[in-house]
Amino acid sequence: MKGIILSGGNGTRLYPSTNIISKQLLPVYDKPMIYYPLSTLMLAGIKEVAIISTPRDLPNYQMLLGGGTSLGIEISYFEQPEPRGLADAFLVCESFIKDENVALILGDNIFYGNTKFHEIVNNFSGGAMIFGYPVQNPERYGVLDFDRDGGIKGIIEKPIQAPSNYAVPGFYLYDNTVVSRAKRLKPSERGEIEITDLNVSYLSDSSLNVQLLGRGIAWFDTGTSKSLVEASAFLESVESVQSYKIGCIEEISLRKKFINLKSFDSLLEKIPPSQYKDYLLKIRPEFSSDSNLSSSTIERLQS
Ligand code: TTP
Repeated sequence: MKGIILSGGNGTRLYPSTNIISKQLLPVYDKPMIYYPLSTLMLAGIKEVAIISTPRDLPNYQMLLGGGTSLGIEISYFEQPEPRGLADAFLVCESFIKDENVALILGDNIFYGNTKFHEIVNNFSGGAMIFGYPVQNPERYGVLDFDRDGGIKGIIEKPIQAPSNYAVPGFYLYDNTVVSRAKRLKPSERGEIEITDLNVSYLSDSSLNVQLLGRGIAWFDTGTSKSLVEASAFLESVESVQSYKIGCIEEISLRKKFINLKSFDSLLEKIPPSQYKDYLLKIRPEFSSDSNLSSSTIERLQS
């Protein structure tokens, strides 16, 4: 399965912070926002990733993440000149998707906890898979409408009166029919092609699967100043209690064996002295059989 991170948009709700910089490059606690969705894809075992952003911001993403080789993954970049809607991701990335299945994650969505996304991606066998997550303010999202037996009878985009408190978070899996389905969508009143309409097209074919995410999982949509600060506070607490970082893409590459220790060390050499680097140095011995590193190697890596 390939992965797309949708990282364009206007970010108007975060104005003036987004006046000259893309929302998904703003820091959430100790790293740029896009590290979190990228790490979600990597943890799900997805190694071919496309990043979509605006013509203005795409060069910054390229500078930040490059081609992905140092992380043992492949990252390609696609321009979306106008925010034409979430489902537009599949039109922009048609040449990237080719004949594969594809996961879409929104660049401002952060997942934490035992989501089982890797297992779900591995077991994905067609149709679409979306998730449901209980929230206090479902009216801001696409909302699941359940029938009496707990089946899904509809998904309502930003309802005035929500049929349930289950929002659809910004992580979706689709089979290869997604591109032709996206091409058939008509823009909504707000002029966007809506992901909810795409999901409804799978629902009409009885090929929409929905998995509810339990309360042991945290999901943040960091599109507003309040949610940005809430996510930062949450990440800070968990990181300081556990002494492990969340969304540390270099660590994930090593743990998932996308890179070996030698490549990890080359990566370390390029990172300036910082708390981030200290953390990577701290976890390094977990992966090394040679606990007696020569002092010159330690010095080289620390500098
Ligand atoms: P939104 O948060 O709905 O939109 P936005 O980021 O433009 O913010 P605002 O409403 O404050 O103006 O978008 C969700 C995610 O999808 C976010 O990561 C931006 C991205 N996006 C695109 O890349 N292209 C699009 O056409 C749209 C609608 C969103």
